[in-house]
Amino acid sequence: MELRAKRAPRIDAEITVPGDKSISHRAAIIAALSNGVCTLRGFLPSEDCMHTVNALRALGIQIDQPRPDELIVHGKKRVLTAPSAEIDCGNSGTTMRLMAGLLAGQTFESRLVADASLARRPMERVILPLRKMGAIITAEGPEQTPPLRVQGGGLRGISYSSPVASAQVKGSVLLAGLFAKGKTTVNEPSLSRNHTELLFNYFLVRTAKGDNGSVSVFGDQVPESRDFSIPGDLSSAAFWLVAAAAQPGGHLLVRDVGLNDTRTALLGVLVRMGAQVREAVEDVDQLEPCGIVEVTGAPLKGTVIQGKEVPQLIDELPILAVAGALASGTTIIRHAQELRVKETDRIAAIAHNLRIMGAQVIEMKDGLEIHGPAPLHGARVASFGDHRIAMAFAVAGLFADGETIVQDADCIRESYPGFETALEEFINPKRARATTPVIGSLSPARIDEE
Ligand code: S3P
Repeated sequence: MELRAKRAPRIDAEITVPGDKSISHRAAIIAALSNGVCTLRGFLPSEDCMHTVNALRALGIQIDQPRPDELIVHGKKRVLTAPSAEIDCGNSGTTMRLMAGLLAGQTFESRLVADASLARRPMERVILPLRKMGAIITAEGPEQTPPLRVQGGGLRGISYSSPVASAQVKGSVLLAGLFAKGKTTVNEPSLSRNHTELLFNYFLVRTAKGDNGSVSVFGDQVPESRDFSIPGDLSSAAFWLVAAAAQPGGHLLVRDVGLNDTRTALLGVLVRMGAQVREAVEDVDQLEPCGIVEVTGAPLKGTVIQGKEVPQLIDELPILAVAGALASGTTIIRHAQELRVKETDRIAAIAHNLRIMGAQVIEMKDGLEIHGPAPLHGARVASFGDHRIAMAFAVAGLFADGETIVQDADCIRESYPGFETALEEFINPKRARATTPVIGSLSPARIDEE
């Protein structure tokens, strides 16, 4: 499939986006371990999340899906059964790393397999701590890459300092910790998204926070079955928020979107770049804040994104790089070497595609230097099999002369089913949508000096 984009007329829209990907994976897993039936509304029915659902089904959990975005998970009080075949994680790094943690706690053996792209991604980051806890894990690929063979059980709690700020690593170790003896603590160099800990708490699993930002879970707990509504994914909304921000006079309102403050660094960057951003949390009852974001566009100016901000907007860096190309002056992204080991090497992919569209970009080991404003021109660009690269460059096409074609764009289904329809609406808006004034505006986020 190809995505086709051309210059968009003035944006004035109100939208919602599909459910949060990170939360969807975790809610399904924790509900499966719970002591009863949990209905999960707003579930993201994307390919990545369905790999997690099917993995849980393979482990003996009944999961009904009466509508694409609703799961009824029949929790079995932490009892999982040995899978009859290997578990396919597809392209989903979150599935593989969280499942590795979950399976480390089981006494049976299982094998996690991956597609060609995931098979190149590093797994040592979860293998190491899970081995320390007592699991036997073999990476069958070169340099600790998938497939993974996991023989678990008999785990002991550990205190682990992760060398990378990764919510997948933290989630994997904490899930294993639920099956370990005693207390399991994870510390990370800077705070990554905290959905595992929040969802544990929502499902009444006891955790503790340390002064140094560490988080601990105590073993032997059974999550309490509860229903949960998953908020919209801010990382999906990001594509349209940036589009509106980069269009002087553009206006976009996103409703029912997740506003967890370990995920909202993007909004601070947009304010720093000159856009007006307002956010209003409307619901915190389920621990994951959810509400409205409103962006009004302006001529953007370049900024620096680095340090502690990076893990909190890691998935938004491709679209922020596009914003950088549209902004006047220089935009610098540093300390983002993790982008090299995502679904593709995102630093190389962004630099390659921005250059093809006419921007001046310097590629660094851990980031990018982008000189704007670039007069972008339409081009044929590659997705590199990476959903966020595909979507970022479709949005770049809304600001380019001529037509932009993103090749091999089927990968967008991994995180954002419906992206293509939304893109079409931004190019050919059919109806005027009501806009609502919202409360509270953000002040520019401080640039994090490292
Ligand atoms: C995710 C964590 C991040 C993010 C990914 C989803 C998660 O990865 O990039 O899209 O749900 O835990 P890392 O943990 O590798 O930073």
